[in-house]
Amino acid sequence: MTGANLLTDHPALYEARFPDPDRLAGRWTEECLRRYDAGERVLDMGCGTGRDAAHLHSVGREVTGADLSEAMLAYARDRHPGPSFVRADLHGFDLGVFDAVVCLDSSLLYCRTNDQLDGFLASCRRALTPGGLLIAEMRNGAYFLGRTDLLDSPTGNTFTWQGITYRSTTTLTVDRTAQLLRRTRVWAGDDGAPPVAQHSAWRLLFPHELRHFLAAHGFEVLELHDGPGPRTEPPWQEGRLPGTATDADRLHLVARLHIH
Ligand SMILES: C[S@@+](CC[C@H](N)C(=O)[O-])C[C@H]1O[C@@H](n2cnc3c(N)ncnc32)[C@H](O)[C@@H]1O
Repeated sequence: MTGANLLTDHPALYEARFPDPDRLAGRWTEECLRRYDAGERVLDMGCGTGRDAAHLHSVGREVTGADLSEAMLAYARDRHPGPSFVRADLHGFDLGVFDAVVCLDSSLLYCRTNDQLDGFLASCRRALTPGGLLIAEMRNGAYFLGRTDLLDSPTGNTFTWQGITYRSTTTLTVDRTAQLLRRTRVWAGDDGAPPVAQHSAWRLLFPHELRHFLAAHGFEVLELHDGPGPRTEPPWQEGRLPGTATDADRLHLVARLHIH
């Protein structure tokens, strides 16, 4: 096996492993945008393969997708001609003026330190028109308080990609000092190449902590809840209203930049 990151080096494989055939994430985002009468200019930070940006474009929005991965951006440009796709770091960016910033599937949790989170929110504030929206969907740090069901035990998965069968073993651990959820994933293919270990980490962000950061950067929280959302069980459907609890493992945020 070659390559430093099997998933982000192969965006098509990423979509095969994490399918969203009904475009739930894009549709959920669009419903949030409509609920609060957002204007049409949307920035999708951490856009990955561009599928959500493409959905928002297809319903009439003017969309910019931004990501750090050149492989993801090349795939997005090739597959989805509507939006513009640019390279940017969500820790600090300046990409123009928008009516909404969206950040889906835990991309926001790549802000691992307080400085990075401040950099992201300061950039959103600069990017948004007064009254503009920040919409995010991510893991919920509070889920791990008192629960270990997702932690410490390796989980296995097998799939075939371009004629090679891969087995992945994934282990999640909590790093309490850094306040991070760490993931080690080992890939072994049946092509005889040595196994490759990949390490990722996400901020464990707690709902009240997030509220505090948002208030400090001039945002009013309109919604903060654990579902229904595009990656909850049961999943969100059109017209289903947001909940109020923040107990389950996904967190959904809609915040508005104060007008003054
Ligand atoms: C889990 S994927 C989510 C992709 C997409 N939002 C979705 O829901 O399908 C996270 C994305 O964030 C990108 N990413 C990671 N760190 C980043 C950073 N510092 N700035 C911008 N993008 C980043 C990765 O390249 C990847 O495409």
